[in-house]
Amino acid sequence: MIEILPDHSDRFVRLVGPETDEVVEAMDEFGTENPPDWVERFPEADEFPTVGPAVGGWLQMLTELTGAKRVFEFGSGFGYSAYWFARGLPSDGEIVLTEVDEDELEMAREFLSRGGVDEVARYELGDAFETFERYDGPFDIVLLDHENDRYREAFEVVRGKLADGGVVVAENVMQAPSLEFDQLLRGLSDGDCPASANEHTVGIFEYLDAVREDPAFETTALPLGGGITVSQKTCE
Ligand SMILES: C[S@@+](CC[C@H](N)C(=O)[O-])C[C@H]1O[C@@H](n2cnc3c(N)ncnc32)[C@H](O)[C@@H]1O
Repeated sequence: MIEILPDHSDRFVRLVGPETDEVVEAMDEFGTENPPDWVERFPEADEFPTVGPAVGGWLQMLTELTGAKRVFEFGSGFGYSAYWFARGLPSDGEIVLTEVDEDELEMAREFLSRGGVDEVARYELGDAFETFERYDGPFDIVLLDHENDRYREAFEVVRGKLADGGVVVAENVMQAPSLEFDQLLRGLSDGDCPASANEHTVGIFEYLDAVREDPAFETTALPLGGGITVSQKTCE
């Protein structure tokens, strides 16, 4: 797995901001102490893969800067990213959390209530795709942080229910336990993913290819957390 930021830059980012609170600190501690079961397959990943504080702070700011009122998450875990979004939403806003793991979703409910942002949250147990289908659009922000090899599929369904000016954020586009970064980089510069790349890498490549090729979207990458892309729908 690549290191996205050199140590000194990583320290800098952590020291500068964002402002945390006791709920974020409790969530950070919970994530460190509660790695998911699948983490055993990846010795280098020893904690729950939240977006982390740097991306979290950015998600809150993105919500505030865009005046977003409705947010949808594909893969909410125990509510880390959702909590940051919720901090940026107005009191009549809405964030839909989706999670296939019941215990994680319960923890999300607990943390968001503790942080006093529970009234904007909708907790949906089950497959994010099925939940998304049940909700009417438009959404202002959608976070993709579920199965990385299904990001493209998610983009296809999301784009029709995204507000004009709405944003799709995808996490772990640069770093994840089985992502082959060199293969991804080669694919992006050649315009075609190497045949030897694994499923995960092909999934991220196909997602990036789809958002970059879509004339209705503008995309930028931010090397924070697991590496995120921010794709804004600028026209239809
Ligand atoms: C990387 S974690 C999410 C982290 C979360 N966004 C955060 O910042 O803490 C991915 C989560 O997506 C969930 N997940 C995977 N596929 C899903 C699906 N199709 N629908 C809903 N949740 C899914 C997993 O159970 C896991 O908890």
